[in-house]
Amino acid sequence: IAAVLGDGPLNGRHLLVTAGPTHEPIDPVRYIANRSSGKQGYALAGALAALGARVTLISGPVALATPPGVARVDVETARQMADAVEAALPADAAVMVAAVADWGVEPTGQKIKKGEGGPPQLALRENPDILATLSRHAKRPALVVGFAAETNDVIAHAQAKLAKKGCDLIVANDVSGDVMGGERNLVHLVSAAGVESLPEGPKDDVARALAARIAEFLKN
Ligand code: CTP
Ligand code: CA
Repeated sequence: IAAVLGDGPLNGRHLLVTAGPTHEPIDPVRYIANRSSGKQGYALAGALAALGARVTLISGPVALATPPGVARVDVETARQMADAVEAALPADAAVMVAAVADWGVEPTGQKIKKGEGGPPQLALRENPDILATLSRHAKRPALVVGFAAETNDVIAHAQAKLAKKGCDLIVANDVSGDVMGGERNLVHLVSAAGVESLPEGPKDDVARALAARIAEFLKN
């Protein structure tokens, strides 16, 4: 409603959100992927739009409807996601929820056949780090937020990631349960100011709480 009336706390702001997995092709019929459903990122994009933001959602391959009021850019690979983020700048804030594949392969143009020589050796190469690049970008948004999916030592890993990536906030989620693909989430907000845990709940509730924090930050 705030978005429609033009009086939301994020009115006039441009927010960038990445979501979903990336797919890294091996050959024309195969790819490397991960278990990200895109649900948390899509919920966040919708919650930010509901607060009045102009939202650009850069999305890997997912089976989700675009939230109302959100402009969606579809990509497949990490490199394409990096290019789409670059093209979407400037932004007031960026939230990188996507589970970007850490490694891709140099794809072959033809389907790899089962041969006498045994399984193919895939030469993995590291993908660009979109969040780290954005954090040090000449057009860096005022607020850069990363997500960290961890199965253990969640807070310690998030604190290390905050420093390594150069972002303002890491939203750490414990994915040791069925978070990836599931409907609920438990996140900890890790920043230079300390650690704040949001109540465990549906991904929509987590998204609304996070959107409110982001609006609060941009107000100041
Ligand atoms: N990220 C990114 N580009 C990459 C990898 C990650 O932008 N190539 C972003 C994710 O969108 C997320 C944050 O970085 O916001 C943390 O991702 P994560 O996979 O937890 O971090 P990594 O540095 O890849 O560390 P790990 O070894 O734990 O996977
Ligand atoms: Ca990673």
